[in-house]
Amino acid sequence: TNGVVTIDPGYKNTGSCESAITFLDGEKGILRYRGYSIEELAEKANFLEVAYLLIFGELPTQAQLDKFHGDIKAQSVVDEDVRKIIDAFPKSAHPMGVLASLTSALTAFNPSSVNVNSEEDMYKAIVKIMGKFPVLVAWTLRKKQGLPLDYGDNSVGYVENVLKMMFKQPNCDYKLDPVVVDALDKLLILHADHEQNCSTSTVRIVGSSHAGLFASLSAGISALWGPLHGGANQAVLEMLEGIKEDGGDTKKYMAKAKDKDDPFRLMGFGHRVYKNFDPRAKIIKKSADDVLGNLGVQDPILDIAKGLEKEALEDAYFVDRKLYPNVDFYSGIIYRAMNIPTDMFTVMFALGRLPGWIAQWREMRLNKEPIGRPRQIYTGATHRPFKAIDQR
Ligand code: SDX
Repeated sequence: TNGVVTIDPGYKNTGSCESAITFLDGEKGILRYRGYSIEELAEKANFLEVAYLLIFGELPTQAQLDKFHGDIKAQSVVDEDVRKIIDAFPKSAHPMGVLASLTSALTAFNPSSVNVNSEEDMYKAIVKIMGKFPVLVAWTLRKKQGLPLDYGDNSVGYVENVLKMMFKQPNCDYKLDPVVVDALDKLLILHADHEQNCSTSTVRIVGSSHAGLFASLSAGISALWGPLHGGANQAVLEMLEGIKEDGGDTKKYMAKAKDKDDPFRLMGFGHRVYKNFDPRAKIIKKSADDVLGNLGVQDPILDIAKGLEKEALEDAYFVDRKLYPNVDFYSGIIYRAMNIPTDMFTVMFALGRLPGWIAQWREMRLNKEPIGRPRQIYTGATHRPFKAIDQR
């Protein structure tokens, strides 16, 4: 503080806005979207219903949901020139970098999505990205696999179509497994919004300059990519696989996580707000058991994860710092059982978070919030005269 400005690194104690979208109580481990508990929504709603709820504030009637889905389907084709952008990437490109690029590139093919000043214009931009984003997600996976960049089937549900676009093999149809559909639907609901997290704050601040929705979302995807944020779900699997390769000695990694001189962190543990169990982690952990059981998948990684969780919950270092498993700790185990590659896990997080980002962007624009521009405390050199290069 210098009397005028107080510095709050990481904005740990700074509120950036008032919002009516998501409520979470970190002490009690409560998460609600527009007042509905995440537990009820995960059980009783589907992802498109929850997307509508987050964006427009109310659970949709059947007619409203059908219209929303119809408008989205009408926008579910991506300009063929986008394939040329995907072709330019090496197969080794990280899918989050591809997705962020393609999302921003959509602006070039949909220029009317930039200057949105009426709710009607916003709605058009919203259904455009809700229709095209799943295509970009699927194409990002198939690019890696050298598979045709196909479309799915608009006669099935939103999540079913995502699975078809991702996994349909040439010359044969893709058989939808209700266990997989239900698991993905639940995962996307659980990831759909989380108030002012790093990537959502990024979408809001980029959008506050009145950059277009797609450019703002692209910035959010880049923020989510980081291993301290959405990238943690990929880092968790890499950590668990490393522990498995190393003989499954979880105690060794617990010690590394507590060693200040060791940069290793227990990925998937800890949270800026939750100082109790992340309610999403509880649901995902149970779903992991159900999905792997129903798919008949035996994954030693799940046992290592459970062993690590048990140890951490009994370890003073973690208990004192209120470090519990977060949303990223178990999600990757389900994605893996669904044959989603590890470096696509954060892309799946982005697919889930899309409606939350959209809802928060729309709220910021409707509230006519000012451009985000924080202050600083200057600690650099005091005024000094220029020195010619031969004097330096
Ligand atoms: C998400 O914000 C959101 O809502 C995000 C998210 C969403 O839905 O949008 O919930 C999704 O990003 C979940 C978090 C995924 N990230 C990880 O799992 C990465 C591992 N977690 C940590 O990096 C960390 O816990 C954060 C980033 C999640 C939170 O960091 P903070 O709040 O800045 O806490 P901190 O780094 O200041 O840590 C406090 C203490 C420190 O020890 P001391 O210096 O006090 O002795 O706890 C320690 C840290 O060293 N610590 C950990 C740890 N996390 C914190 N020690 C070991 N392993 C960890 N995972």
